[in-house]
Amino acid sequence: MKIVKVDLKERSYKILVGVDLSEIGNHMRDLNLGGKVMIVTNPRVGRFYLPKLEPSLKTSGFSVFKTIIADGERYKSQESANKIYAQCLKNNFDRKSAIVALGGGVIGDLAGFAAATFMRGINLVQAPTTLLAQVDSSVGGKVGVNLPDGKNMVGAFYQPRLVYADLQTLRTLPAKEFANGLAEVIKYGVSYDACLFSYLEKNIEQVKKLDETVLQKVISRCCEIKAKVVALDEREKNLRAILNFGHTLGHALEGLTHYKKYKHGEAVAIGMVGAVKIAISLQLADSSLEARLKELLTKACLPIRIKGIKLSWPSFLRFLQHDKKVLAGNIRFVLPLAVGKVKIVDTVPLAVIKNMVAP
Ligand SMILES: NC(=O)c1ccc[n+]([C@@H]2O[C@H](COP(=O)([O-])OP(=O)(O)OC[C@H]3O[C@@H](n4cnc5c(N)ncnc54)[C@H](O)[C@@H]3O)[C@@H](O)[C@H]2O)c1
Ligand SMILES: [Zn+2]
Repeated sequence: MKIVKVDLKERSYKILVGVDLSEIGNHMRDLNLGGKVMIVTNPRVGRFYLPKLEPSLKTSGFSVFKTIIADGERYKSQESANKIYAQCLKNNFDRKSAIVALGGGVIGDLAGFAAATFMRGINLVQAPTTLLAQVDSSVGGKVGVNLPDGKNMVGAFYQPRLVYADLQTLRTLPAKEFANGLAEVIKYGVSYDACLFSYLEKNIEQVKKLDETVLQKVISRCCEIKAKVVALDEREKNLRAILNFGHTLGHALEGLTHYKKYKHGEAVAIGMVGAVKIAISLQLADSSLEARLKELLTKACLPIRIKGIKLSWPSFLRFLQHDKKVLAGNIRFVLPLAVGKVKIVDTVPLAVIKNMVAP
């Protein structure tokens, strides 16, 4: 097991990487919580992992309740949050009680949002079961739900008491979902850590084979990076923006294709290549960076260019300008200067962007 500490004064917490879900009860007992726990999960993840989680919590003396939410991004909604509140109310949850989010980022964001808002905040434990959730969404405290017309439009910054990542859960994760998380892993390498990037270049096959030692190293390093960045900039005023490398173009691409053609990580992969190309054309980065990034993404089974659709530049631009990261009308890009070092640039000429996406 590797322990990563997130240092946020009285809201500090630990991320445990490489633990066993069937021992979560012991670790939660140490948190000095009340006696009641609500597990929030979906039918798919629940079928695999409730048999491990539930007995462990019960053996440790917790009264265990469950809310099962249907699988899918569209259930990351206020209605689903209402279901969780109703279960908590019915079972007399109080502010010492806890919610355990067992699942990927959808369950983590939703259950986290319910925990942040029920009685103005009850304890939250994240038990992430996708690679994306283990390296990204379960760390950092952003929780929320979607509105019919906008993703993540209602939410809060709310830190968990514990993040508990069992790497064995990745064994049942479909390959496409694993690749989705790898895009964020590669993002950490380019935006913050050249050693992580080289390590991935050398060990990508072991990562794909789910070699436990390699995975533990990679996932805990990503958590360390996110934890460090979040500790310095919890509310995303400045530094935290560097973790949005690849996301400016990525979000626009997801929006333009109605969140159907690309998984988030796939859009981010294409967005990272686009950002590198922009950096090269502005003479901020060397062209070798593009080759290294494309090779690693390809080995990680991620796309490196838009295929099979003809992009309309005016619509793409509209989506770019809608991004939350647009400040005072400028489109904000996180551009690499070298592997491991990025810079925020608000002054990329539109012609340069257009040339990347619709030459
Ligand atoms: N809060 C944040 O900082 C943050 C950061 C990034 C993404 N997100 C959010 O995360 C969500 C995406 O998360 P995701 O990619 O984990 O998707 P997800 O939660 O939808 O999970 C993907 C699929 O994998 C299944 N699954 C999960 N764990 C499994 C396992 N161990 N074995 C088999 N199947 C499993 C799920 O049932 C689902 O069908 C989005 O809503 C996004 O907005 C939040
Ligand atoms: Zn992302």
